[in-house]
Amino acid sequence: MSVHNNYKNMTSYKIKSSLIHRQGLYAAYNIKRSSKIIEYKGKKITKHKAETDLKYDDPKLIYLFDLNKKYDLDGDFKYNTARLINHSCDPNCEIIDNGKSKLWVYSIKNIRKNEELTYDYGFSFDKDYKTYPCNCGSDNCVGYIIKQSSRWRLKKIS
Ligand SMILES: C[S@@+](CC[C@H](N)C(=O)[O-])C[C@H]1O[C@@H](n2cnc3c(N)ncnc32)[C@H](O)[C@@H]1O
Ligand SMILES: [Zn+2]
Repeated sequence: MSVHNNYKNMTSYKIKSSLIHRQGLYAAYNIKRSSKIIEYKGKKITKHKAETDLKYDDPKLIYLFDLNKKYDLDGDFKYNTARLINHSCDPNCEIIDNGKSKLWVYSIKNIRKNEELTYDYGFSFDKDYKTYPCNCGSDNCVGYIIKQSSRWRLKKIS
C-alpha cells in the first residue's frame, strides 16, 4: 500500500464525544485514503487469558484486538489513544498488522475534517451477537457489531 502523510508535524486525529458511543476519534483535517493515522498500542495476551480473566468479562466495553489464533492485544491503556476508535458498518479506517508486532490504523477512504474515524471491529457472528448492538448510524448498519464477512448470516435469519 502506498502511504500518504498529510501534515508531517500534526496528528491527524482529535478526541471528541461521539454520537456512536461515549468518546471517539475524529479527523483533525482532510485525510487522504491510505494514510497512516495512529498506532494501536497495547499488551499482547493469550486468548486463554482473554477468555478467563475477569478483567475482560465486560461485554459493554471491549478493548481487545484479535491478533491471531493464539494472541489478542489488550488495548485498554490510557497511552493507547486509538482505543477510542468506534466500530462502524461502513468504516473509513482499518487496522493493519505490519507483522512486526505493530498495529497501525490506516484510512481506507478519503476522510473529511471532523468525520469520525471508525473501523470494523471484526466480531464474529455467534449466538451472543445481540450483546453487541451497533449504533454507527450508517445507511448499511445491520444493527449489531458483526464483521463485514459475516453480516449475510444475520440477514438470513432476520
Ligand atoms: C474500544 S471502545 C471504543 C471507545 C469508546 N467509545 C470509549 O469512549 O471508551 C469499544 C466499546 O465502544 C462501544 N462501541 C464502539 N463502537 C460502537 C458502535 N458502533 N455501536 C455501539 N457501541 C459501540 C462498545 O461498548 C465497545 O465495547
Ligand atoms: Zn452499524
